[in-house]
Amino acid sequence: MSTARALITGASSGIGAEFARQLAAEGRNLILVARRADALQVLAEALETDFAVQVDTVSLDLSADDAVESLFKTVQDRGLTVDYLINNAGSSGPDLLRDRDWQEQQRYIELMMTSVAGMCHFFVPEMRERGFGRVINVASVAGLVTVAGDHSYGPTKAYLVALSKGLAATLRGENVNILALCPGFTHTDFHNSESLAKMKRATPAFIWYDADVVVREALAAVDKGKQVWVSGRLYRLLVPILRTRLSRFVAGRLGVKRNY
Ligand SMILES: NC(=O)c1ccc[n+]([C@@H]2O[C@H](COP(=O)([O-])OP(=O)(O)OC[C@H]3O[C@@H](n4cnc5c(N)ncnc54)[C@H](OP(=O)(O)O)[C@@H]3O)[C@@H](O)[C@H]2O)c1
Repeated sequence: MSTARALITGASSGIGAEFARQLAAEGRNLILVARRADALQVLAEALETDFAVQVDTVSLDLSADDAVESLFKTVQDRGLTVDYLINNAGSSGPDLLRDRDWQEQQRYIELMMTSVAGMCHFFVPEMRERGFGRVINVASVAGLVTVAGDHSYGPTKAYLVALSKGLAATLRGENVNILALCPGFTHTDFHNSESLAKMKRATPAFIWYDADVVVREALAAVDKGKQVWVSGRLYRLLVPILRTRLSRFVAGRLGVKRNY
């Protein structure tokens, strides 16, 4: 029996659950990680039934100090190895300037950046030794386009893009591929809060993608050895435009402050 697994963080909903479905459909055995044990269990049972794969679950808060180390130990204790690593868990966070609870800010940074660095620290060296690995760090278009007012979420995703590019450059030629995935707006539970749901209602439907498109493109891109992948044709077109001087000028005229 193969011990190799695809480990997916944030697998209890949205993009992470879709990664689980598509990787299970390829016949891969899985380790699903998130805080909600019941949601993970329901998904694990469905995937085992539908695709005849083996699915482990680990309920864990990745914003806790020692979460990643304890996850690595759990995987080792179960005698499993990880050949696909999808660092997907994430959320919107506190406003760095307005929200005054520093511990909450630190937990957010731990979830969005430190835990991903930790996952790469613990799992990538073993992939290198075995000569095979696929890592997808789920960043965002927000990590590529800086907007005044977003000094939490976007910057954490910019770190994931930089981290992924650095690792990919280091591991070139070793058959351990590292991808920063940059989705635009995607239908998931991410926008369930009152303010984000309001924002979603105010935007046109055509800028929203389904998670299955995002995941299908990501799995193909990491196999091809891409370092950064913007998902969705619309966003592949928009991102370079949003980074031009002309677009900065237009944004300025419209009163949108941008500093890139
Ligand atoms: N949806 C979009 O428009 C969009 C666009 C660009 C990038 N992204 C990125 O895509 C990733 C997945 O988000 P999504 O859109 O699929 O949203 P989602 O449906 O809300 O899923 C987020 C996942 O992260 C898990 N999670 C959140 N906090 C966690 C914590 N402290 N410890 C462990 N797991 C945690 C959640 O599980 P539990 O609640 O069970 O812990 C859930 O499984 C995120 O990194 C997000 O930034 C989303």
